[in-house]
Amino acid sequence: DAPVGLIFTVDRRLNKGSWIDYGMFLQNIMVAARGRGLHTCPQAAFAPYHRQIRPVLDIPDEEIVVCGMALGYEDTSKPENEFRTDRAPLEDWVTFAT
Ligand SMILES: Cc1cc2nc3c(=O)[nH]c(=O)nc-3n(C[C@H](O)[C@H](O)[C@H](O)COP(=O)(O)O)c2cc1C
Repeated sequence: DAPVGLIFTVDRRLNKGSWIDYGMFLQNIMVAARGRGLHTCPQAAFAPYHRQIRPVLDIPDEEIVVCGMALGYEDTSKPENEFRTDRAPLEDWVTFAT
């Protein structure tokens, strides 16, 4: 029930590097939202439905639908917003070369 739904697209001609940039762009939006007391939920699950989304938002074929993102204030009464995922310890995913 978020009041704002964002759909993100990227020009089809852009390659891996631009997708890395795009990830940072998405994260900046999420961090900026937190800075203003808002919450987000990025959702790649929208991407497979691009055929349905395109005509609604007038998205041309030259653009790839990357993901969606819900934006609003967290509803703390909803159990799904209570879910907290564990974080793997640093040693599990970083190799320190000495
Ligand atoms: C670009 C992007 C797309 C995502 N798409 C989905 C998705 O389609 N479905 C889903 O369950 N989680 C998706 N996630 C993960 C959730 O948005 C969220 O990060 C996850 O529930 C873990 O939350 P946490 O990092 O606060 O623990 C996506 C994350 C990112 C960064």
